[in-house]
Amino acid sequence: MHGPSLNLLGTREPAVYGTKTLEQIDAMIVEYAGERGVEVATYQSNHEGSLIDGIHAAAEQGFAAIVVNPGAYTHTSMAIADAIRAVSIPVVEVHLSNLFARGPERAHSVTATAARGLITGFGHESYLLGIDAALRCVQTPRGRKAEKPSRRGGAKKRSSALARRPRS
Ligand code: DQA
Repeated sequence: MHGPSLNLLGTREPAVYGTKTLEQIDAMIVEYAGERGVEVATYQSNHEGSLIDGIHAAAEQGFAAIVVNPGAYTHTSMAIADAIRAVSIPVVEVHLSNLFARGPERAHSVTATAARGLITGFGHESYLLGIDAALRCVQTPRGRKAEKPSRRGGAKKRSSALARRPRS
């Protein structure tokens, strides 16, 4: 899930956010997840309420986790933070840039206080790392220790889907 002005990636401050378009990044996300046996749906909105509705809908529609870049709402939106707290599925927050290297006004995330964790500063790869983190959350629910790899090297049980496509 992508927040405001991330639809302009590619041309928006390329020195900060890179030159890949949102379409290219979404394609990479779908491919990366697919290689891991996971289906994802991507969504972008410039509107706070739509992002909140999207968070609620993802949980209601059976998505197993959410990876979200709330854009500038990161720094201000108690409403998005509350929506994240309101759903029981894990939410991983990601940012292309390193929030902590961009001055005091960006060095605080209101939304990350509600998320399971934060990945920041790896460009578009932050989203891919976010998928890995979400998968870890789904495979290892809170309070349970990560399983040790089987001695026989057998495949570990994997959740069939991190995310399902929303009903149309
Ligand atoms: C961003 C960082 C935010 O501070 C900014 O407002 C964005 C993009 C990032 O991905 O680096 O819109 O979330």
